[in-house]
Amino acid sequence: MIKALFPSGVAAVEAFDDAEPAPLYPEELALLGNAVAKRRDEFATARRCARQALGLLGCPPGPITAGPRREPRWPAGVTGAITHCAGYRAAVVARAGEFLALGVDAEPNGPLPEGILETIAGPAERQHLALLRRQHPAVHWDRLLFSAKEAVFKAWYPLTERWLDFDEAAVTFDADRATFAARLLAPGPVVGGTELSGFSGRWLIGRGLLVTGIAVAARRPAVTVRPLPDLIGY
Ligand SMILES: CC(C)(COP(=O)(O)OP(=O)(O)OC[C@H]1O[C@@H](n2cnc3c(N)ncnc32)[C@H](O)[C@@H]1OP(=O)(O)O)[C@@H](O)C(=O)NCCC(=O)NCCS
Repeated sequence: MIKALFPSGVAAVEAFDDAEPAPLYPEELALLGNAVAKRRDEFATARRCARQALGLLGCPPGPITAGPRREPRWPAGVTGAITHCAGYRAAVVARAGEFLALGVDAEPNGPLPEGILETIAGPAERQHLALLRRQHPAVHWDRLLFSAKEAVFKAWYPLTERWLDFDEAAVTFDADRATFAARLLAPGPVVGGTELSGFSGRWLIGRGLLVTGIAVAARRPAVTVRPLPDLIGY
């Protein structure tokens, strides 16, 4: 189902369990240290998805190591992102000449634990979610917001190598188009002399999961981010 979130040129592979063998390279095993079985399984299956996705781009198999902030290190000329949650693992990759950055995140389609929404959403975002909840009660909008912001971070980080807090992006959803726009409230990455003011993405619901995806095209029209009027000053 992940393919629906990304344009052509992005290779996406997903798994719903850890049934298929997913051998790791020594460099990858070293990243795991003494991790518990659950962590080893999600890591190994997501690495397998990533290798399959890289294969679709024509890249030979090899270890996918990680940087100091856990960001995956892709082969030269490739960008990508990884996600995993209970019952789901996925990886997306693309040629860096075609896409500057990718973001992906999956979450169970259930409510966020008590107290989390207040730490990840500003007042205007909470108002926006309340309206969406009334119109589309089957969607856990609070969890979708969390997922969209995690996807934003995964696209943001390789471009900036900087932290981005939850209050440094304001997200609005379009329920009919199943899209979202994230307006950056911190200085954006400068790409080709132009500052990126935000990210746009897509989301889907299926098999009890919410999945969000962002693809930043290398040659793209200006990002259209239409903030709600009351998001200004967040
Ligand atoms: C990095 C972060 C987004 C990962 O989220 P998570 O809850 O572990 O979720 P997922 O399982 O979906 O993703 C994990 C994968 O993200 C990738 N990842 C981790 N850190 C990353 C980073 N700095 N940049 C890009 N990708 C990263 C890794 O591939 C990791 O899997 P792996 O360790 O098996 O390789 C999260 O831990 C975090 O730090 N969030 C706070 C920052 C944030 O979200 N700000 C909001 C900005 S609006």
